[in-house]
Amino acid sequence: MRERWTSRPLFIFAAIGSAIGLGNVWRFPYLTYEYGGGAFLIPWIVCLIFMGIPWMMMEFGLGRYFQRGAPGVFEGIGKKWEWLGWWPVWVAFLLVTYYTVVIAWSLRYAISSLTVAWGTGEAGASGAGAFFFEHILKLSDGPGVLGAPVWATLFCLAFIWVILFFIMYKGAKVIGRVSVWLVCIPWVLLAVLLIRGITLPGAVDGLNYYLTPNLAALADPEVWFAAFSQIAFTLSLGMAGMIAYASFIAKKADVTNNAFITSFSNCATSFFAGFAVFSTVGFIMQALNVPVGEVSAAGLGLAFVSYPVAISMMPGANAVIGVLFFLCLFFLGITSAYFLAYGGVIIPLMDKFGLGRVKATAIVCAIAFTIGILYTTSGGLYWLDIMDRTVSFYGLLITGALACIVVGWVYGARKLREHLNATSDIKVGAWWDWLIKVVVPAALIFVVIYGGFMKDIAAPYEGYPLWAASMIWVILLATLGLSFWLQAIKTRTAKGGE
Ligand code: PHE
Repeated sequence: MRERWTSRPLFIFAAIGSAIGLGNVWRFPYLTYEYGGGAFLIPWIVCLIFMGIPWMMMEFGLGRYFQRGAPGVFEGIGKKWEWLGWWPVWVAFLLVTYYTVVIAWSLRYAISSLTVAWGTGEAGASGAGAFFFEHILKLSDGPGVLGAPVWATLFCLAFIWVILFFIMYKGAKVIGRVSVWLVCIPWVLLAVLLIRGITLPGAVDGLNYYLTPNLAALADPEVWFAAFSQIAFTLSLGMAGMIAYASFIAKKADVTNNAFITSFSNCATSFFAGFAVFSTVGFIMQALNVPVGEVSAAGLGLAFVSYPVAISMMPGANAVIGVLFFLCLFFLGITSAYFLAYGGVIIPLMDKFGLGRVKATAIVCAIAFTIGILYTTSGGLYWLDIMDRTVSFYGLLITGALACIVVGWVYGARKLREHLNATSDIKVGAWWDWLIKVVVPAALIFVVIYGGFMKDIAAPYEGYPLWAASMIWVILLATLGLSFWLQAIKTRTAKGGE
């Protein structure tokens, strides 16, 4: 018998836990800010409804129907398609190797927050950047200079993998129960941070930046690219994991509804986190007397530089707020990390090679940790950035587009829809078939070409040296090749079924 979620809420919480993650707290707010504030919400919602939810229904439906992880699903569609199930497994695996490093930084920050180690008041505010780059990362001059691992980060990383091992080695039963806690705790923490944020002076200015729509931005294709890729990323699609999670659902259970619940809960969390973050950004502007544009809101800087600046400047309870914020990131990250490792990698390996769960879990944890050491070195941030572009942009979008095409045209979108409708309260119409067959893959391919290839081929990604930026293509091709190799290996029937 395949393992099962012991109840429906456990599956839903596990799926929500995978979806809400670092992406909701730092990526969503800064994208919103960068792409026209409130206007960004429009493409974001359009993408959620026309792309995210239908795609999630597809992944849930496939997992439940075939009762296998991603490679098993594509093998079920046709022996020659199995590689298309392995490619996202590689993507998920590479993603978790560095995602856990970001969680390790969060943990270090939670600890540093106890004493507000970067300093309070003006001194802390001006020292927060240096703290991140010099103290936490010990950043080197470029991707060619790796240097030694930063031991504190490495230690936290090892600790995280031990926790992940203990959550995963018993499978869905424990994952489901742990997820309920690890989803509810960040929600409570975010609520506390929100209240703190909106009661700070200057909060209103931040919220104005967050929500005032700049409608002219809608004409800019970049905004749409950003919305597409953010929705795919935030819903944890295209990573093989959702398919595996759904494969533990009993054949008769509803999945369409679960896809709606999961997607909306995730996006509501992002929206909510935006208030907590932007009210705080507004406060920094006022306290430091700088316009919002100068608050470094981009990427990791938002969570690890701007927020610490705010913590330094807060009128009281600095340490508490710091600890809560970084613990929130930590918990949010952990649920996504075990989702990637378990659903994305361990289940496919167990399905294919008949490995026992404990053994498969131990192997994956050990290898992923070892690769993660690279990102804890002084040059690690550069590689993290390059790897992020490779897997969470190209890998995710390309494998997602191919999966939709194969499911839509080879397996048959209609067949899958009938399967979904047979057990679901919400019945979807034929429009869904066309979303999967044409709209979603076309949108994804468009983003890959215009938002990706056109830029990264014209000039090395982010101005890195050519040899380093070229690793994007090397890794993509290597993982594709390895996926074909895995397809060629004969499947061993699992011992005892699971
Ligand atoms: N959805 C997660 C987030 O928003 C990231 C993630 C992507 C996790 C893909 C797993 C798979 O942070």
